[in-house]
Amino acid sequence: MAVGGFAVDDNSRAFSGKVTASVVITCIVAASGGLIFGYDIGISGGVTTMRPFLKKFFPAVLRKEADAKTNIYCVYDSHVLTAFTSSLYIAGLAASLVASRLTRAVGRRNTMIIGGLTFLIGAAINGGAENIVMLILGRILLGFGVGFTNQATPIYLSEMAPPKWRGAFNTSFYFFIGIGVVVANCLNYGTAKLSWGWRLSLGLAIVPSVIMTVGALLISDTPSSLVERGKIAQARDSLRKARGKDIDIEPELAELVKTSEAVKAANEEPFVTIFERQYRPHLVMAFAIPFFQQLTGINIIAFYAPVLFQSVGFGSDSALIASIILGCVNLFSILVSTFIVDRYGRRILFLEGGTQMIIGQVAVACVLAVTTGVSGTKDIPKGYAVLVLVLLCIYAAGFGWSWGPLSWLIPSEIFPMKIRTTGQSISIAVNFATTFVLAQTFLTMLCHFKYGTFIFYAGWLIAMTLFVILFVPETKGIPLESMYQVWERHWFWRRFVSLP
Ligand code: BGC
Repeated sequence: MAVGGFAVDDNSRAFSGKVTASVVITCIVAASGGLIFGYDIGISGGVTTMRPFLKKFFPAVLRKEADAKTNIYCVYDSHVLTAFTSSLYIAGLAASLVASRLTRAVGRRNTMIIGGLTFLIGAAINGGAENIVMLILGRILLGFGVGFTNQATPIYLSEMAPPKWRGAFNTSFYFFIGIGVVVANCLNYGTAKLSWGWRLSLGLAIVPSVIMTVGALLISDTPSSLVERGKIAQARDSLRKARGKDIDIEPELAELVKTSEAVKAANEEPFVTIFERQYRPHLVMAFAIPFFQQLTGINIIAFYAPVLFQSVGFGSDSALIASIILGCVNLFSILVSTFIVDRYGRRILFLEGGTQMIIGQVAVACVLAVTTGVSGTKDIPKGYAVLVLVLLCIYAAGFGWSWGPLSWLIPSEIFPMKIRTTGQSISIAVNFATTFVLAQTFLTMLCHFKYGTFIFYAGWLIAMTLFVILFVPETKGIPLESMYQVWERHWFWRRFVSLP
């Protein structure tokens, strides 16, 4: 009996599956689930710097800003504002834990629809917000929406994709997150000039939610999820469409049914099962991957870029342009990842991307230390500001082809069916929890550590790169139901998974 999954014969691992037009279209439609998360990330950063928005909901921030004779690192250090941004992450955290059961009970696709609709209602409330209560309520609904969608979509993609190209298919989720970010940044650039621009920016979140909800209505659920819910005939149809007419899909279907029956017979509570010793490697990854992703400092960079450029006199327009540039670099680099991930593997991307980010962070810290002075009160000459932007682009590219997409891919592919939705839930919850804690603390940290903040994140990057070298196995090309082999062969993890 294999561990971390159920026994499968060696020859059953070679389930083939061509890249059919149907599976490509289905997965692109599903991946659009990333749009709403990306849109929110992009919009909230910009909206919280719009003066009419601050005047209506957070006047204290404006007063503080007017009084501020502080250094460039402390201007936006406001707890109320971060609390507003972060409320989404707390709601998302709660939703992702509930979503584990939901994705099992109603399927991946239906969970995406529920997520899309919840997000839509939240967007409408936010667009029409008259007071802070409406604003927070809307934001909580957005959080629920994102929690459900981020849980279901990566699993959907990994289950649907032909194993050989699973990485590329899965990176499309992050690609849509990236598109959402860039679209939102461009929109903010236009709406920032209007007194009611914030309403437009927040309200237009309806558009991505409609796109993804309608998209999800048009696709069928994954074969695994249909089998899990006893819909064998539908599973056969879904598999045939995904793998192509001339492929014999029966062995793959039989494997799914066998796994699903074993899961049902065992009748275990997945939130308990996942803590069993044999699933220790899986559990560690569910925590470590999203935790480390946030400790790359990506969100601090995303936030700091416009503030930095604004404070060195580039004007708020150029600050937004800097965000757009970073967003585009990120988008382009995801495509690099799509190309590499199944050909050369996940580990190489982690290692190269991690090293590149370390170099970027350390270089930014050095430039800032030299130009702004230890207290951060000196202005950065424009030429150096451009240099900082270039270094941040190098960093953003590294993230865009490593921790950005891979943190969605790895948790969606390493778990056996019986703990898959649970493992994914834990991973999304950890992502949201870490984002929340960092968002609460990073502005204060920036204010106190100044350019040292970048060194702090570079330190974490060194730790996570070592973690990858030692503990993250290569998962390229392995079918989901045979994934237990990677742990059995791993120098460290094999002691946890008992061999037959
Ligand atoms: C992360 C987000 C981040 C985004 C940036 C995602 O993979 O989970 O926290 O803001 O990438 O593009």
